[in-house]
Amino acid sequence: MDDVTRISVTGDRPYDVLVGRGLFDTLPTLVEGAARAAVLYAAPLKQHAGQVADVLAAAGLRPLPIEVPDAEAGKSVEVAARCWDELGAAGFTRTDVVIGVGGGAVTDLAGFVAASWLRGVRWVPVSSSLLGMVDAAVGGKTGVNIAAGKNLVGAFHPPAGVLCDLDLLATLPADDLLAGLAEVVKCGFIADPVILDLVEGDPAASADPAAPVLRELVERAIRVKTEVVSADLRESGPREFLNYGHTLGHAIEKNERFRWRHGHAVSVGLVYAAELGRISGSLDAATAARHSAVLQLLGLPTTYRADAWDELLPAMRIDKKARADTLRFVVLDGLAKPGILSISDEGMLAQAYLAVAAA
Ligand code: GLY
Repeated sequence: MDDVTRISVTGDRPYDVLVGRGLFDTLPTLVEGAARAAVLYAAPLKQHAGQVADVLAAAGLRPLPIEVPDAEAGKSVEVAARCWDELGAAGFTRTDVVIGVGGGAVTDLAGFVAASWLRGVRWVPVSSSLLGMVDAAVGGKTGVNIAAGKNLVGAFHPPAGVLCDLDLLATLPADDLLAGLAEVVKCGFIADPVILDLVEGDPAASADPAAPVLRELVERAIRVKTEVVSADLRESGPREFLNYGHTLGHAIEKNERFRWRHGHAVSVGLVYAAELGRISGSLDAATAARHSAVLQLLGLPTTYRADAWDELLPAMRIDKKARADTLRFVVLDGLAKPGILSISDEGMLAQAYLAVAAA
């Protein structure tokens, strides 16, 4: 095992996020007292899930591998129900555990199965994607999608620990790595500007899974998230700041019928949120311009269809932060100073869109 960085989430249900390489051997200590371990994975991670199962078996547990559909297709009530049936058939008890090996969709599903089985058993996400490591796997949000929308059914169920094994990033397509970097950049703007300095200093290394700079970016972004969720697990305050760039981002994802990667949509949303901050007078022009500059250095998109505004505005109105006819955006009152801006003035919303409208 390489050197391991431990980043702690504090609060009522504390746990550690482990970052490093070759971390699977740490799993048995996270699930002490369990007799059985369900290992949920999608086909591309079959080999790694097998390694996880072997480590657990060597520690005396009975692994139960369960293959689930990849990506969002696996995040359904039907797939969760199949997993519950398998846990039932295997006689899973309250001391048994669920492990999710994969990207954010598989770990969200695994967490939801764990949250709902016997009203909550322990679980551990073994995250294989950058987005999963810096966002989905940390913070205890679990859930599935239903016809009415993404993540509408779920629970806050903090894990027993989180494994961010950087070796798994080698399995990730380059575009998915890039999408994860949008969330990393977001963390730079809302809390840790060193992230922005690192990306600006070496954008190529920032997107290289083997480079030490990517590890530092991952650890810094995780620290941003762990600090926020330690203070506000249930999103009643500062956790909303993690949604910087997400109001327009989610609207773009919906408008694209989820064919755009989440991180790519958030990238455009970050530029939009920066512009809202600028025109509302809270953010200086240089910091606003830094958003598109950093994201473009990485090759992330910063514009979207100019003619899409009439579809995006209604989509933004169903954002979870909205209240009645007022949209609420996370904006910056300066670098690393996030706040909430309530806007009902459609003119201002449309004016900010000009900053991202493709020529
Ligand atoms: N992805 C935002 C959050 O975990 O709150």
